[in-house]
Amino acid sequence: MPLAKVILIGFMGSGKSSLAPLLADSLGFDFVDADSEIIARSGCTSIGEIFSRFNATHFRDLEATVATSLRDASSLVIATGGGVIGRSENMQNLAHGGGVVVFLETSFAEVLRRVPDRSSRPLLGDLVAAEKLFRERLPVYRECADITVTTDGKNQRELCSDIITLLESYQ
Ligand code: S3P
Repeated sequence: MPLAKVILIGFMGSGKSSLAPLLADSLGFDFVDADSEIIARSGCTSIGEIFSRFNATHFRDLEATVATSLRDASSLVIATGGGVIGRSENMQNLAHGGGVVVFLETSFAEVLRRVPDRSSRPLLGDLVAAEKLFRERLPVYRECADITVTTDGKNQRELCSDIITLLESYQ
């Protein structure tokens, strides 16, 4: 099946949103940031506001709606939110019709370095809980991934070219 979508998954701070436009440019694809789509559908102005005005379940339902809306998309790089892997139907919808799932594997120390202002990430506020979540999710990201790249110590250009090479050999 020809490559229709690249789905970037990984923990908060793994670089999904900043890598998506670069990768899209290299592939001649468009890109979409799932968190921005969620905010646009929420009536709120930020992820933090969705969590505080509503709750985590409402956020996850919006996230699932966005994943469903991307089911038949093509020529698209999708930067997902870190928790998208929590519902398996999200991954089925996103990968439907020629999607390749790329896991940006990043150490927890690097996540903290990349997100110095954790106030915009509701699930990064409590460091002990965040590290527990990180450990719980790691095997799930690996399980969902078609391709895994480690990101620590690499700049966005290097990562982008690594992923393009891996995508070429994956097909
Ligand atoms: C979340 C990650 C965030 C955002 C929300 C929940 C998570 O996206 O979707 O705060 O559950 O890991 P990023 O991974 O883009 O920070």
